[in-house]
Amino acid sequence: MKEKNRIWLLLCLLLMVAYACDYKFIKPDEGDPIDPEEPISFSAEVEPIWTTQSCTNCHNGSGLFSLKQGEAYQSLVNNNLLDLENSDNSLIVKVPGSSGLHADYTYVSNQKLIITTWIDQGAEDN
Ligand code: HEC
Repeated sequence: MKEKNRIWLLLCLLLMVAYACDYKFIKPDEGDPIDPEEPISFSAEVEPIWTTQSCTNCHNGSGLFSLKQGEAYQSLVNNNLLDLENSDNSLIVKVPGSSGLHADYTYVSNQKLIITTWIDQGAEDN
């Protein structure tokens, strides 16, 4: 085989190997990016998360504080679940997905980011 042909063959083989190795890593769904300058609405964006994530199965006001629409804001305030100085340290952010009862009840996608951004913006009842 001519030297030139051999180099071509080698290049083709390399390309095939490289192509075969180009598999995609499974990335967690991070949801849409959040613009921290854009005001987050508590009632439209934050509050529905707790219903979506089934928190309201237990946190519905019968025994435990309520995270239901229209009742959640008062619960957050009354139970000190917000840390305005350090949003990541807020119980409403830290407890889901932690351990025990809450190991299986957690946030997905950009839900945690929506909540922390809303807290960073002053946690208004908006
Ligand atoms: C299976 C029932 C159940 C579900 C579902 C549940 N919780 Fe809870 N949660 C509890 C109980 C019981 C407590 C009180 C005892 C404790 O702190 O573990 C509690 C306490 C909490 C506390 C307060 C902890 C403290 O130290 O004051 C937070 C915050 C909380 N839950 C958030 C959530 C959120 C957010 C979800 C949904 C992602 C959720 N929980 C889903 C049962 C539940």
